[in-house]
Amino acid sequence: MTASSLFWLEQLHLSSVLVFQGDTPSVTTLTSAGNIGEDGILSCTFEPDIKLSDIVIQWLKEGVMGLVHEFKEGKDDLSDQDEMFRGRTAVFADQVIVGNASLRLKNVQLTDAGTYKCYIITSKGKGNANLEYKTGAFSIPEVNMECNATSESLRCEAPRWFPQPTVVWASQVDQGANFSEVSNTSFELNSENVTMKVVSILYNVTINNTYSCMIENNIAKATGDIKVTDSEIKRRSHLQLLNSKASLCVSSVAISWVLLPLCPYLMLK
Ligand SMILES: *[C@@H]1O[C@H](CO)[C@@H](O)[C@H](O)[C@H]1NC(C)=O
Ligand SMILES: *[C@@H]1O[C@H](CO)[C@@H](O)[C@H](O)[C@H]1NC(C)=O
Ligand SMILES: *[C@@H]1O[C@H](CO)[C@@H](O)[C@H](O)[C@H]1NC(C)=O
Ligand SMILES: *[C@@H]1O[C@H](CO)[C@@H](O)[C@H](O)[C@H]1NC(C)=O
Ligand SMILES: *[C@@H]1O[C@H](CO)[C@@H](O)[C@H](O)[C@H]1NC(C)=O
Ligand SMILES: *[C@@H]1O[C@H](CO)[C@@H](O)[C@H](O)[C@H]1NC(C)=O
Ligand SMILES: *[C@@H]1O[C@H](CO)[C@@H](O)[C@H](O)[C@H]1NC(C)=O
Repeated sequence: MTASSLFWLEQLHLSSVLVFQGDTPSVTTLTSAGNIGEDGILSCTFEPDIKLSDIVIQWLKEGVMGLVHEFKEGKDDLSDQDEMFRGRTAVFADQVIVGNASLRLKNVQLTDAGTYKCYIITSKGKGNANLEYKTGAFSIPEVNMECNATSESLRCEAPRWFPQPTVVWASQVDQGANFSEVSNTSFELNSENVTMKVVSILYNVTINNTYSCMIENNIAKATGDIKVTDSEIKRRSHLQLLNSKASLCVSSVAISWVLLPLCPYLMLK
């Protein structure tokens, strides 16, 4: 049996023992998602201690032998860190004293998905909470007029998604309309062979209308809107992460309307 699996057993044992103790620091985690190739944060907070030197933070991952990260006596101790996480983790050292045990994970990989444990020791005792970390790829779509197409069409493009998302178009004028017959969506594998570029074309669009291209997988939902009138074209986009438990928005990027140049080639009818 490895040190780590012993550790997990010890945690299980501890949590049952803790029921009989009143004095333990409360630990709270937040489900989150990582975007492959980017940096991510595994969020964990705890009831702080007055002395930094009395705080120990351990991050563990189910099925991984070594530790993900350890912080004690005011600094990192990476002597038991698993190779999988070498050079990729950090806690916010100046935030530990206020009860922030969140872990920054550099260059998120698909294989980083799983169950993590945020384990805290303070002078009050021990506490822990689990966190489900999802990994995938998600990006904001951009919608544009296809200027040289044979019919008025829109092009919705997003550079990186994984797993393969669904793409649905909607319009403000024809609410509830099903555009699947007048659109064409393709997924092209990017060079790292995991994430894919999403391109969807919507044909036969009408003027004085707002169209939305909605891309969604189990991790995130993104929307690109375009508003076309005879004097201007505007667009905006928006991304939100979906919480696995409640489908709540835990993070969002909203971009307000941006004016685009009119198509020089296309005479809109
Ligand atoms: C912890 O601190 C980091 C860095 O300041 C911050 O980005 C993060 O939101 C904090 N987490 C919580 C749960 O407060
Ligand atoms: C539209 O024009 C661009 C560049 O001007 C060209 O690369 C593209 O192939 C054209 N598309 C069609 C459908 O003609
Ligand atoms: C739209 O129509 C297609 C078939 O034309 C169907 O497969 C799809 O489920 C419909 N979508 C909705 C949201 O009704
Ligand atoms: C677009 O409209 C034209 C004319 O009404 C029609 O012939 C064509 O099939 C339509 N294209 C699509 C993709 O529905
Ligand atoms: C959709 O796009 C693909 C690739 O661009 C093309 O081969 C296919 O004919 C298109 N389908 C329709 C219905 O336009
Ligand atoms: C992606 O897959 C292709 C074909 O399967 C292969 O030739 C290429 O080396 C792969 N690229 C990477 C980065 O793994
Ligand atoms: C679009 O709306 C503008 C102002 O509301 C109007 O003047 C114009 O005629 C409309 N164009 C079409 C093609 O409906």
